[in-house]
Amino acid sequence: MFIHTRAMLSSFIYGLVSLCIFLLVHGDGVTSIDYGEALNKSLLYYEAQRSGNLPPNQRVQWRGYSALSDGSEAGVDLEGGYYDAGDNVKFGFPFAFTITMLSWSTIEFQAQLKEKDELSHAMEAIKWGTDYLIKAHPEPHVLYGQVGDGDSDHACWQRPEDMTTPRPAYKIDEKNPGADLAAETAAAFAAASLVFKPSNEIYASLLLTHAKQLFEFASNYEGVYQSSITQAAKFYSSSGYEDELLWASVWLFLSTGEESYLDALEGSSGGTRSRFSWDDKYLGAQVLVSKLIFEEALDQDIYGQFKFDGEQFICNCLQKGEKNVIKTLGGLLWFISYDLQYVTTATFIATTYSEYLTTYSATFDCPGGTIQPNDLLVFAKSQVDYILGSNPRNMSYMVGLGSNYPKQVHHRGASIVSIKINPEPVTCLGGFLYFNSSEPNPNVLYGAVASGPDENDNFNDLRSNYEQAEPTTVTTAPLVGILAKLALSFK
Ligand SMILES: *[C@@H]1O[C@H](CO)[C@@H](O)[C@H](O)[C@H]1NC(C)=O
Ligand SMILES: *[C@@H]1O[C@H](CO)[C@@H](O)[C@H](O)[C@H]1NC(C)=O
Ligand SMILES: *[C@@H]1O[C@H](CO)[C@@H](O)[C@H](O)[C@H]1NC(C)=O
Repeated sequence: MFIHTRAMLSSFIYGLVSLCIFLLVHGDGVTSIDYGEALNKSLLYYEAQRSGNLPPNQRVQWRGYSALSDGSEAGVDLEGGYYDAGDNVKFGFPFAFTITMLSWSTIEFQAQLKEKDELSHAMEAIKWGTDYLIKAHPEPHVLYGQVGDGDSDHACWQRPEDMTTPRPAYKIDEKNPGADLAAETAAAFAAASLVFKPSNEIYASLLLTHAKQLFEFASNYEGVYQSSITQAAKFYSSSGYEDELLWASVWLFLSTGEESYLDALEGSSGGTRSRFSWDDKYLGAQVLVSKLIFEEALDQDIYGQFKFDGEQFICNCLQKGEKNVIKTLGGLLWFISYDLQYVTTATFIATTYSEYLTTYSATFDCPGGTIQPNDLLVFAKSQVDYILGSNPRNMSYMVGLGSNYPKQVHHRGASIVSIKINPEPVTCLGGFLYFNSSEPNPNVLYGAVASGPDENDNFNDLRSNYEQAEPTTVTTAPLVGILAKLALSFK
């Protein structure tokens, strides 16, 4: 093509720019996904999940205070923290993982969160968790790992503000240990200490003290926590504690710099995992070790297996591995069941790894080819776009984003009229009137992500359909970091 005049040149450039803008906005089949808005909502979700007394700057106004005397039966103050999902139980094991992932999101994407004015909200979300965990860890070898009873809680449909169910508190200690729970909580404390170190050194060092004590407890008292907190077995049964010990040791090394924490790395790297979750942290440890190898803080010759295993997982997600993760026709990774929580953790790993590759000008090899940082970002965007509405049902699985989102998420508080509008207590069984209603939830649970579609990209937006319609706190935490990154990369 020949361009003869300056006017033609400028109109040619104008055309190119317009085309690019069009492709950016329409190219992926959705009008536009506002990652910044999704990020904002992801952090509002943690305010809606708050237990205890609410602070003056609480933005989610349909919630009120609740469960103020949690822990009193056991003679401890366990007020605060987060409700786990659509129920009103505080399950310590996924809770701690949520805090670790919120912290990891904030550590890797701090600059982006700051740029989007969300860093303070992310730090508040973490601190709401760690303030509670401090109370839950009153002695070096005592950790409360659950408040509320899953069975009696699930038998009722009540706002947290109205709860009439028993609120027993369950702990691990020397006689009844739980190395997985203690180590995951150590990881949460250690990761959070890195978040607070630059701005609040006193708090960061308090968190680190708890982290060290819990890691020592976990290392010396073996066993899975549901043998001690048997009430958790039905809901969050842990498959082992070796992965938490490994993952916690890397977080402890990152936050203290003490070489002794590397001893745990002499054991197994865990091999190539099939997912990263509240139960399986090997991949998280592998990726953090890779970062330390990139930084030349750890020796590739000694720890290379961790990096290799982590990269093979990513290869499988990108469909370039030996055991690729199944994808739905609509393009969503399909792990074990309807559960976007595995998609958000895997996507977080890809997004974070993309940052490492960029920072250290690196690539890596999959059986199906060499991976560049941008390949990881494109993949991450594809999964997030699916979750936020670019899918065969055009549905945003994040509540409150756009207009087509799950209107009946399985969530007690969101499905019952706000206590601020109708203060009349809702009884245990009376609440089923709301459960049975075919109306949309009266309170929009902004930022919650439903478990999601089935393997055929279908979704039944029905409150009773908890397999698909229940949101959990673990699902949104990795999204905080991913969305911060995407909001700045794809403006
Ligand atoms: C974030 O959400 C809050 C509450 O809905 C809203 O007031 C604020 O304008 C939002 N900010 C951005 C940047 O979207
Ligand atoms: C989704 O949106 C596309 C494009 O606007 C449209 O062709 C398709 O019919 C929609 N699908 C559903 C299930 O609404
Ligand atoms: C809700 O529906 C169930 C069965 O679908 C019924 O047994 C129950 O009585 C209903 N509860 C209320 C309060 O409407």
